[in-house]
Amino acid sequence: MSKKINDMLNPKQIDFMLADDKVINLLTGSVRSGKTYVSLLKWAIFVATMPENSEFLMTGKTITSLKRNCLGLLQDLVGNNFTYSTSQKIGLLFGRKIWLEGANDERAESKIRGMTLAGAYVDELTQIPFEFYSMLLSRLSVKGAKLYATTNPDSPTHWVKEMIIDNDEIEKAIWTFTFDDNEILKRENEDYFNNLKQQYQSMGGVFYERFILGLWVMAEGIIYKQFANNPDMFIRDEAVDKNGNKINFLIVSIGIDYGASQSSTAFKCTGITPYFKEVWTLDEVKLEGVHTPEQFYEEFVKFYYKIVKKYNKCTHAFADYGSLGQVITFGLNRYLQQHNVPLQVQDCVKGQIIERIELDCQLFAQGRRFILKDCKHLINAYKQAVWEDGKIDTRLDDNSYDVDSLDAHEYSIFSFYDKLVTDIKPYY
Ligand SMILES: Nc1ncnc2c1ncn2[C@@H]1O[C@H](COP(=O)(O)OP(=O)(O)OP(=O)(O)O)[C@@H](O)[C@H]1O
Ligand SMILES: [Mg+2]
Repeated sequence: MSKKINDMLNPKQIDFMLADDKVINLLTGSVRSGKTYVSLLKWAIFVATMPENSEFLMTGKTITSLKRNCLGLLQDLVGNNFTYSTSQKIGLLFGRKIWLEGANDERAESKIRGMTLAGAYVDELTQIPFEFYSMLLSRLSVKGAKLYATTNPDSPTHWVKEMIIDNDEIEKAIWTFTFDDNEILKRENEDYFNNLKQQYQSMGGVFYERFILGLWVMAEGIIYKQFANNPDMFIRDEAVDKNGNKINFLIVSIGIDYGASQSSTAFKCTGITPYFKEVWTLDEVKLEGVHTPEQFYEEFVKFYYKIVKKYNKCTHAFADYGSLGQVITFGLNRYLQQHNVPLQVQDCVKGQIIERIELDCQLFAQGRRFILKDCKHLINAYKQAVWEDGKIDTRLDDNSYDVDSLDAHEYSIFSFYDKLVTDIKPYY
C-alpha cells in the first residue's frame, strides 16, 4: 500500500495530504515542486466533504492564468467530477458551485464582496492584491471554511510574508516546497528536471534562490550575472547561424524609449528567429540631447531604412507611453504614413520589471540570447545593471548606467513574452 502511495505522491506531498488542515493553508516554494498538484487534490477532497449547497471560489491573477495553471489539472485529477466554463466564470466540483474570478487589481475585491464562501483556492497568491485577500478572508464565513493557496516566494517584505507567513496571530499551516521535493518529476523526467535546475543555477541570484531553493529573499547586486561574468558568450560579430549562414529573422522589431531631460531617446532593434527560438539585438541608436519631434521622426526613419536594408524587413515597432510618449508616437505614425513607410508604431507592453528581467535572464541561461558587438550601449547596460538597495525588485535607475537601453530593448520583445518563454531550452 505505502509503495503505491509513494508512486503517486512525493513524500512532501504525502505529509501535506495527511496533515490536519488549518483555516489558511499556504504552499510556498520552488517552481515545479508539486504545490499545485497536491493542493488541488486536497482542495477537491475538502470541497467534496463540505455541505452540498455551499459555494466556493477559485481565483488567480487572471481567469486565463487560473485556467492554465489549475483548472485543466484539476480535471485531470478528478475527471468529470469537475466541469467549468471560464466565460460564465463558474464550475461544478463534486456537485458544489465554484465561482471563478481573476484578482489582478484592487478593484477585483468588489467582485467577491457579497459572497458567502465555504472555501477558496488561490493560485499565485503573491500576484493578488492584499485588499482582495482580506475581502476573501471575510467572505469565508461558513463553519469549517478554509483557504488553500500556492505561491512562489517573493521579497521578504511582501504582504504574503509579513501578513501570513510571519504572522503568529492567525491559524495557518505553511508548507515550503523545494525543487528537489518533486522526486516523481526527477524520476520520470530526469533530463527536464536537471536542465531546469541547471538553468536557474546559471541565472543565479534571486531567481535561483526564490525559484529553486524556495526562499523569500531580496533581489540584490548585479542583475544580469551571466552576461556580466561572461559577455563573450553572448556577443557576436554578425547575425549568422552556426554554419555561418545569414539568419533570416521571423520578426525584426524596434523598441523605442523616449528620452526626458535627464536621459535620452534609445532605439533598439531586435531580431527573433523562427519558432521564437533566439533573440538577437541587431542595432541601436542613442539620440543624445534635445530633439524636435521632426528631427526625431527623421532619425527614426533613417534607422528604419538602415534595418530594412540590412535585414530585409522591419515587422514591428513598440514605443514607450505615458506623459507625452503617446503624443510623439501619434506624430511619428502620421509622419510614417505621410512618407509611405509601411510600419505602425504600437504602444509597448510593459509588464513588471522583474518579469522583463527574468525573460532576458532565462534567454541568456538557455543560450538563446545574442547581441551584435556594435550595440555598445546595451552591452554596457547589461554589465552594469544592479538591483536597487532596500527596494523591492527594483532596477536601479539613477543615471549611473543606461537604463533607457534596457527599457528600449525590453519594449522590442515583451509583446512576444508568451511565445518566448519556455521552461527549458527548446530543440527544434
Ligand atoms: N504526485 C505527482 N504525480 C505526478 N506528477 C506530479 C506530481 N506532483 C507534481 N507533478 C507534476 O510535476 C510538475 C510540477 O508540479 P506543480 O505544477 O504542482 O508544481 P508547482 O509547485 O505548482 O510549480 P509552480 O511554482 O511552477 O507553479 C507538473 O507537471 C505536475 O503535473
Ligand atoms: Mg503551481
